[in-house]
Amino acid sequence: GDPMKIIILGFGAVGQGVARVLSVKKDYLKKKYGLNPSIVAVGDRSGAAINPDGLDEELLLKTKEKTGKISSFPEYGIPGVESINILDEVEYDCLVEVTPTDIHDGEPARSHMIKAMEDGKDVVTSNKGPLALSFQELATTAQSNSVEFKFEASVGGAMPIINFAHETLAGCSIESIFGILNGTTNYILSRMANEGSSYEQTLSEAQELGIAETDPYQDVEGIDAACKIVILANSVLNLPATLKDVEVEGISRITAESIALAKKEGMLIKLIGEASPDTLEVSPRLVRQGSPLAVEGTLNLATLKTDLADEVTVVGKGAGSVETASAILSDIISVWKVRK
Ligand code: HSE
Repeated sequence: GDPMKIIILGFGAVGQGVARVLSVKKDYLKKKYGLNPSIVAVGDRSGAAINPDGLDEELLLKTKEKTGKISSFPEYGIPGVESINILDEVEYDCLVEVTPTDIHDGEPARSHMIKAMEDGKDVVTSNKGPLALSFQELATTAQSNSVEFKFEASVGGAMPIINFAHETLAGCSIESIFGILNGTTNYILSRMANEGSSYEQTLSEAQELGIAETDPYQDVEGIDAACKIVILANSVLNLPATLKDVEVEGISRITAESIALAKKEGMLIKLIGEASPDTLEVSPRLVRQGSPLAVEGTLNLATLKTDLADEVTVVGKGAGSVETASAILSDIISVWKVRK
């Protein structure tokens, strides 16, 4: 059948993960879904690479790896194009918005998504900032333009939660969500508890692993988790919250001593997020060793409290290039099923 034409804006860890999974899963997608995705443009800070007939995914990855710039793509590279203008340069069906997240005004991602929707295009994103700041605006714009708007990857990377709540738990009312929604801080707290290492040392390890945000302040001060609480509050609990509604405390003041003290009592300190009609909060809390919340490393975990199914807990990789791209691919497939 006809290809599904995709524009990717942002070509960091997540954007490259999307190119990789589209390349690796080509035959699988064709056989299983009759889906033939074609990347017609990619934009990053350097400019763009645009080809209406599709850009070779492996060559995109090689170009980025070798030169750091998508605009040096052979033959189809264009330096200096503003990312918003790429959306007018080539015919496409679906925008994959994966530029770095911004928690001040959600830009430029917010404008990219609004423009795409107003042009009648479907949007898939992992971008937390604009969702946490402007969820209602984005959802309303998608609705009034009758386009698909999917953002599974924005909460917990590969951990299934938003589509899981909407589809698998479709018959349940979800009353609250509670859990560990940041991999960087969970990694830091686990290492501090297990190895007795210092906060500073484990933070730089997390950065080397590539799980921390570009600005790790967002991770350690609880803002990344707070963004996810806002997204879950809006999309799963139908609460029209924004980032300023969340009470946030991070982990930067947690000392090795307090962790050791907790350990003696059979407890661990975890950064916990909670969303319910009366509480929107991210804060360090004590959890019992051996309890479900005692997950280690970069894992994320969330418990959904429901009316019919009681409590349901999901757990998975909260970050990572291909892991996060798996959630984006799932959204791309959903969009395809609606459109084909
Ligand atoms: N920096 C985030 C984390 C990545 O550490 O969980 C996914 O949002």
